[in-house]
Amino acid sequence: MKVITTVPGSKIIEIKERPEPQISQPDEIKLKITKIGICGTDREIAHGGRADAPPGTNELVLGHEMLGRVVAVGENVTKVKPGDYAVFTVRRDCGECAPCNVGRNDMCQTGKYTERGIRAYDGYMAEYVVDKEKYCLRVPDDLVDLGVLTEPMSVSVKAVDEALKIQAARIPGATYDGWLKGRTALVVGLGPIGLLGAIALRLRGAEVLGMDIVDENSPRPSVLKAIGGKYINGKEVKADTIDELHGHIDLIFEAAGVAKLGFDIIDALGINGIYVMTGVPGADRPADIAAGAIMQQMVLMNQVMIGSVNASMEHNLMALNDMAECKKKWPGVLESIITEVMPYTKINEALANTHSDEIKTIIEF
Ligand code: BGC
Repeated sequence: MKVITTVPGSKIIEIKERPEPQISQPDEIKLKITKIGICGTDREIAHGGRADAPPGTNELVLGHEMLGRVVAVGENVTKVKPGDYAVFTVRRDCGECAPCNVGRNDMCQTGKYTERGIRAYDGYMAEYVVDKEKYCLRVPDDLVDLGVLTEPMSVSVKAVDEALKIQAARIPGATYDGWLKGRTALVVGLGPIGLLGAIALRLRGAEVLGMDIVDENSPRPSVLKAIGGKYINGKEVKADTIDELHGHIDLIFEAAGVAKLGFDIIDALGINGIYVMTGVPGADRPADIAAGAIMQQMVLMNQVMIGSVNASMEHNLMALNDMAECKKKWPGVLESIITEVMPYTKINEALANTHSDEIKTIIEF
């Protein structure tokens, strides 16, 4: 079968031949891959950035956002049957820590987790993949067209979920279901994670401001406006004037992965506010920040700053729920996040496809 590989640390991307994987355990599922999403992580890996090959090799099969059709199941599998559409999650347990042992490898405590297509485990840019039922999620029939967005949606939903759990635990009167209602959230960076985060925030009752540096009439602001959000052009508005122009911001959802902006924007956060970072900038990009002013503000205003990565199976289920809700409330919006679909043979074009009208590029197998 065909697979797309890279040599971590290099810019080599190749289509290669590998043996088709087969089911060998009763709890395994075999998927025929139909769609793979390309994200910033894939592009960083393709530029020689953060990634590891499986132990004993120097080559990694790329791809971690996926959708596939079930073609075979082990004898103990009950979640899916051949013909169903399903996704596999990204992380694999370290096998040692409490979070991994209760199905929360997104919170792995040892740091010895692996990630398919990213860290020491081959990914999904392949014609077929086999994995365990516990990492599999059936995609309902009416969401099949959007199933490839489940992984990025789960990442966005986890970030919002973490913020709500923290706010509900620490602020008198705040509840998990109620805290966002009527409050203002600022999403920084309107790529897929930011826009899916904006959807999750709107569905939970927040007013959403979204910031990017693209033209107001281009696809990213259009998606934001279609869900009732308001666009801020970061080329025209400085981070330290946002609160003067738009009032108290209760939650910042960072999805730009730009280090300086990530810290400058803290200025906009209001009293008791929470800031969730999801962007992963290159670690070698230092930035000058107003450290004293930021620290003073965060202490005097009881602010929280957290990082959030990956997602649990529960977040994947929440993601499918949110996607179904979004489809009902704002028909066509999720579809418009997928801006380009290319055959897998055009992987290099797909990886290089980063113009300002691009949101999510998908490759098909
Ligand atoms: C993926 C996550 C992963 C993270 C860190 C992101 O691009 O969506 O699943 O945990 O990268 O490697």
